[in-house]
Amino acid sequence: MVSLSYCMPFLSFLCFLIFFPCLIFTGHSMRHIFFYFNGICFPPFKDKNGFFCFVSSLSPFSLLSLSISTCNMRPLLFGILPIKENSCGSLSSVTVALCLLTLLLMVIWGRKSKRSFFHFHHDSQLDHTKYPPPPGPKPWPLVGNLLQVGEQIHLSLTGLRLQYGDIFKLRLGSLTVVVLSGYNTIRQALVRHGEAFAGRPNLFIFSAIANGTSMTFNENYGPVWLLHKKLCKNALRSFSQAEPRGFGATCLLEEHICAEAAGMVQVIREKAAKEDMEGIDPATTLVTSVANVVCALCFGKRYDYSDKEFLTIVDVNNEVLKLFAAGNLADFFPVFRYFPSPSLRKIVQYVRRMNRFMERNIEEHIDTFDKNRIRDITDALIALCEEREESKDTSMLSNDQIIHTVIDIFGAGFDTIIAGLQWSLLYLIKFPDIQDKIQQEIDEHIGKPQLPRFSNKAKMPFTEAFIYEVFRHASYVPFTIPHCTTRDITFNGYFIPKDTCVFINQYQVNHDIDLWGDPEKFRPQRFLNPCGLLNKELTEKVQIFGMGKRRCLGDEFARLEMFVFLTTLLHGLRIENVPGQELDLSTDFGLTMKPRPYRITISQRF
Ligand code: HEM
Repeated sequence: MVSLSYCMPFLSFLCFLIFFPCLIFTGHSMRHIFFYFNGICFPPFKDKNGFFCFVSSLSPFSLLSLSISTCNMRPLLFGILPIKENSCGSLSSVTVALCLLTLLLMVIWGRKSKRSFFHFHHDSQLDHTKYPPPPGPKPWPLVGNLLQVGEQIHLSLTGLRLQYGDIFKLRLGSLTVVVLSGYNTIRQALVRHGEAFAGRPNLFIFSAIANGTSMTFNENYGPVWLLHKKLCKNALRSFSQAEPRGFGATCLLEEHICAEAAGMVQVIREKAAKEDMEGIDPATTLVTSVANVVCALCFGKRYDYSDKEFLTIVDVNNEVLKLFAAGNLADFFPVFRYFPSPSLRKIVQYVRRMNRFMERNIEEHIDTFDKNRIRDITDALIALCEEREESKDTSMLSNDQIIHTVIDIFGAGFDTIIAGLQWSLLYLIKFPDIQDKIQQEIDEHIGKPQLPRFSNKAKMPFTEAFIYEVFRHASYVPFTIPHCTTRDITFNGYFIPKDTCVFINQYQVNHDIDLWGDPEKFRPQRFLNPCGLLNKELTEKVQIFGMGKRRCLGDEFARLEMFVFLTTLLHGLRIENVPGQELDLSTDFGLTMKPRPYRITISQRF
C-alpha cells in the first residue's frame, strides 16, 4: 500500500507524458497546460470536512490520475474527492514500476540528449571552462522549469531574482532562457553591450506572425535590420511631424490626436446620457479612438465608432497578442513544429485576417498612388519601393520588408496605449485626490476655453508624473519582446552563448524596493523634485519601452497621445467610481496586461 498523496505526482507525471500530445492536438494553450500542471503537482489538501481537495481538481490530469490511482473508484463531485485523511489507494506494483521506469528514462534522456528535437539550446553549449553559466533553479527532465514559472510569469521571475540574482537561467521545455533583472544590469546589457543583446530569438511564433519580413520580430540583427529600423523610425517621424491639414495644430500627429480625443469625450458623454446609475465601460470608446490615430497616420483614414470591420481588426490584434503571451508549445518543444496545432492554427487565421485588412489598404493605396501627393505612411513606403532601384541603401530591403513597415507600426501602435489609458482611468477613479490635482493643473495651464495641446505637457509636471507612475505601478508591459544574444558573451562573470533567448524583466525594475522604497504605493509625487519639477533621473528608471537597440520606436508618440487623451477627458469631465464597485488592481500575465473590466460615471465640469 502506498500513500495516495505521495504517489499522485508520479502518477500524474506518467499521465502527463501520455496525454500531453493529446492536449496539444485538442487545442490547449500553454496557459491551460500550466493549469493542468498545477492540478497534478500540488498534492491534495484537506477541507474542513476531512475531504481531499485538489488545487484545480477538475483538470483532466487530476481526474485521470485519480481514477488510475484509487483502486476502488469513488464518485468525483465538483472537484472534491471524498476520501478520508489516511485512506490510501492501493497500487499495483506494475503501476509503480512503470512510474519509476518513466522517471528514470526521462532523467537519462534529459542528461544524454544534446541536440535532439527536444534540445536546441542545451547547457552543453555553455563554456563551463572559463566562466560559469548563470545560476538558476534545477530544471526537471523534459519540462525544465515550466512548472516553477506558473501563470503569473512576471511575479514568479521577480521572486526567483531574490534567490538567484540579476542574471539567472531557466529552461522552458527545451528552450534555455536567461532572465535579466535590475536596472543597472539591464542597462549594461541593452546599452553597453547593445549589439550582443539586440537579436530576437528564432521563435516559431515570430515566424508564424511575421514570416521574416517584420522589423520587430526579425531575428537577424545586422546592417539590413538596422536599415529597416531606420526606415521605420523615419516613416513614423516624418508623418507625425508633417504639416497639419487644418488650422491650430503644430503637426499632423497633434491634429489627429486632438481630434480623436475630443471625439472620444463626446462619445463618452453620449453613452453616459443613455445609461443611468450603472455607469459606462470606457474600454470600447478608448479602443476605437486610439486605434484611429495610428490608422490615420498609416492609411490616411479614420473609422466610425461602430464600424464592424475596424472593431474586428482591433479585436483580432488583441487575440493575437493574447495567444502570443500564452506561449506556444512549438517554441518550448520544437518537435511540435512538425505537428498541426489548433492554437497555432488560430494564430495563423488571425494573422491572415489582419494581413487581409492591411493588404486591402495597401492595394487601395497602390491603385491611387500619386508620387506628388504623399498622403500617409503607406504612400511614403510605396514611393520608397519605386525609388529603391536608384538608392543603394534601400536596395538591401525587399519590397515586402519595406511595406511590412506599416504593419510593424500599426501592430505596435495602439494596444499598448489603450492599456495605458485603461489603467490611468482606473487609478483616477481609485484615487480621486490625484484627479483633483491633475484638474487643478489643467485649469491653471490650459483653462476653460482651450483644449489640451502637446505644448501644455512640459508645463504640467504633476500630470506627467501621474503617467510615469501608471507605467511604473501597473507595469503593464512586464517584459520586453524577447531578446536574443547575437554572439557569445561574458556578462558580469557569466558566460552566455550566442543565440540564447533573453527575457528582460521590466516589472522587477518597476517594483524594485531598492530603487523606489515603497514600490507598491501609487504615488506620482515620487517623480517630482522639491521645486515641483519632474525628476528626469528618476523617470528614466521606469521600464516600459525597453532600452538600447531594440527600444520602442513610439515612446514619445505614446507619451504625447496619453497626455492629450487624459487631459482632454479630465478637462471636460469629472470621472468617478460607480457606487459599490470594488476596484481591483490585480491583473493576469500577458504581453500587455489589461486591468479587469470596470465602469465609470461621469459629470460635466463646466
Ligand atoms: C505606451 C505605449 C507603448 C509601450 C508601453 C510600448 C512598449 C514597447 C516595448 C516594451 C517594446 C519592445 C522593446 C524591446 O524589445 O526591447 C516595443 C517595441 C516597439 N514599439 Fe512600442 N510601445 C508603445 C507604443 C508604441 C507606438 C505608439 C508605436 C508606433 C506607432 C510603437 C512601435 C514600436 C516598434 C516598431 C517596436 C519594435 C522595435 C524593435 O524591435 O526594434 N510602440 N514597444
